[in-house]
Amino acid sequence: MILEIKNLSKSFIDGKKTLNVLKNINLSIDQGSIITIKGPSGSGKSTLLSLIGTLDKPNKGEVIFDNENIDLIEDLNRFRNDKIGYIFQSHNLISELSLKENVILPREISRKKVDHQEIKDLFQFFELDDRMHSYPNDLSGGEKQRVSVMRAIINQPSIVIADEPTGNLDQMNVFKMIDLFKKLNNEHNLTFIIATHDNEVFSIGDIKLQLKEGYLKNI
Ligand SMILES: Nc1ncnc2c1ncn2[C@@H]1O[C@H](COP(=O)(O)OP(=O)(O)OP(=O)(O)O)[C@@H](O)[C@H]1O
Ligand SMILES: [Mg+2]
Repeated sequence: MILEIKNLSKSFIDGKKTLNVLKNINLSIDQGSIITIKGPSGSGKSTLLSLIGTLDKPNKGEVIFDNENIDLIEDLNRFRNDKIGYIFQSHNLISELSLKENVILPREISRKKVDHQEIKDLFQFFELDDRMHSYPNDLSGGEKQRVSVMRAIINQPSIVIADEPTGNLDQMNVFKMIDLFKKLNNEHNLTFIIATHDNEVFSIGDIKLQLKEGYLKNI
């Protein structure tokens, strides 16, 4: 079990109102599985992913990552950088850094060796080897998305958390992204947790979940 979520609740105070976004969520995820989550806009998908990704804290409940309660992890920055790959809809690349510098950043933060041939091969795989030294602003949405996938997987994380990873992509690039996720899952046993509105992306889940009115259900 790579991830266990127990009795997780999250609410937000919005003016005088309390929004109970997540109500008692339970979920167990095996290493190497693909979890897809859908649900109406505002149902709490991004909220759930930020709790799983340790970017926010729940009001109640626990997130257990590889048998370790994340509340007890001392160096969360290091933990995130080593164990979790993030792909956001707004790719969050650093515009002052070249594509190559963006991709190797997690590795440099963990002070791991950077093998330049490996990075080149990775860019080649993503068909961006001639753009390694370009800057994010010079790329199309789909190209930026591919760079953010490279950055997410560069440290061989235990899980990849993807929030609307295909939100800005045309159909051809959606299919490419799906093939890539499946390939990474097959070849590296990488675990994916993906929130999506796209039915094609949703359909690749080994476990398919719907978030509605604060609860998760299998579908
Ligand atoms: N920091 C916050 N403060 C107050 N309310 C918040 C905060 N973050 C999220 N919410 C509210 O929580 C609810 C769930 O938001 P969330 O972003 O998780 O939805 P979502 O399912 O990801 O939606 P979408 O499909 O549009 O991305 C929304 O009603 C949102 O307004
Ligand atoms: Mg969202």
